[in-house]
Amino acid sequence: MIALLPGDGIGPEVCAAGRTVLEVVAERFGHRFEFEEGVIGGAAIDQVGNPLPDSTVEMCQRADAVLLGAVGGPKWDIPTAKVRPEQGLLGIRRALGLFANLRPVRCRPAVLAASPFKPEHLAGVDFVFVRELTGGIYFGEKRLEALDNGERATDVCSYTTIEIERIVRVAAALARSRSGRLISVDKANVLETSRLWRRVVTRVISDEYPDVELQHMLVDTCAMKLVQTPRSFDVVVTENMFGDILTDEAAVLAGSIGLLPSASLGAGDANGTRRGIYEPIHGSAPDIVGTGRANPIGTILSCAMLLRHSFGMETEARAVESAVEATIEDGALTPDLAVTNGRVALTSEVTAAIVSRIGAEVSVTS
Ligand code: IPM
Ligand code: MG
Repeated sequence: MIALLPGDGIGPEVCAAGRTVLEVVAERFGHRFEFEEGVIGGAAIDQVGNPLPDSTVEMCQRADAVLLGAVGGPKWDIPTAKVRPEQGLLGIRRALGLFANLRPVRCRPAVLAASPFKPEHLAGVDFVFVRELTGGIYFGEKRLEALDNGERATDVCSYTTIEIERIVRVAAALARSRSGRLISVDKANVLETSRLWRRVVTRVISDEYPDVELQHMLVDTCAMKLVQTPRSFDVVVTENMFGDILTDEAAVLAGSIGLLPSASLGAGDANGTRRGIYEPIHGSAPDIVGTGRANPIGTILSCAMLLRHSFGMETEARAVESAVEATIEDGALTPDLAVTNGRVALTSEVTAAIVSRIGAEVSVTS
């Protein structure tokens, strides 16, 4: 069963596009996928006063994989609010033990002009961030105290050896399947958590992945090099908050944040598949809700990751990815990308173009 969590803003629109693609994959490849839908984020606050109702957690625990749209929006963005949509997202990642967040970034020739960078700077950029997702400062103790002359806010950042070991193993295995190079990002010149991070990463790589070439990089340097020499990156592993910030920066290289998928994965089971939440990396985009302008590609590529990582369906995942690539090359794209030739398409048109190409892929591969 695939759990659908459409969430807020354009979440329901892109989630519907993803479901359509999964249904077509099922039909063309002879599978049967069942879907159940739950509430999360602002939509759940409105319905039941809780961004992550127990019924949603329970449904996701029963599911083989979760497809999520987006959470949040100005309606719930009240600084003094006790409940926030983002708590739903952080909570479900934690409840399912999804500690490894994969965020691939690629620059495609057909849409290089959509990026603010020079095209020759971007050609060939293709890397993956592996962000630790259930530890660090986002999950540490939070406190707000009154002082005589104001207030004091505290957010605790902590990491354990085990949390670092398991994320570096995911990243090292990925590096092995790609260029064999791994960059680990930290702030070891200042932070104790980063010094532990660096020691553990060094040990795990030298004991278990001696064939992987490891480079440590400070987070400020990484922020600079990502835009200065983006082609020099292949697999990057980092802690939660650094990964959150750097992946938004990296998204700019791809031309539109609307193109980028993500997978949040837990520990693998015996046959190599993992439970996961799959979601586009963009947010709820309240400014374009209901206009049909949302780019469905980030979600559709997330569906390909779902097929690959949670269902072990590599052929099906590739069929979806090839259909997306062909559609991007064809050039009828949502307004975030249609800057070069003016052929603007709606969410539904881009989805339909991808769906019809998945059919063509099947006849080629079967
Ligand atoms: C992301 C988002 C979330 C995060 C927020 C919405 C909690 O920014 O997925 O990158 O920080 O993880
Ligand atoms: Mg983020």
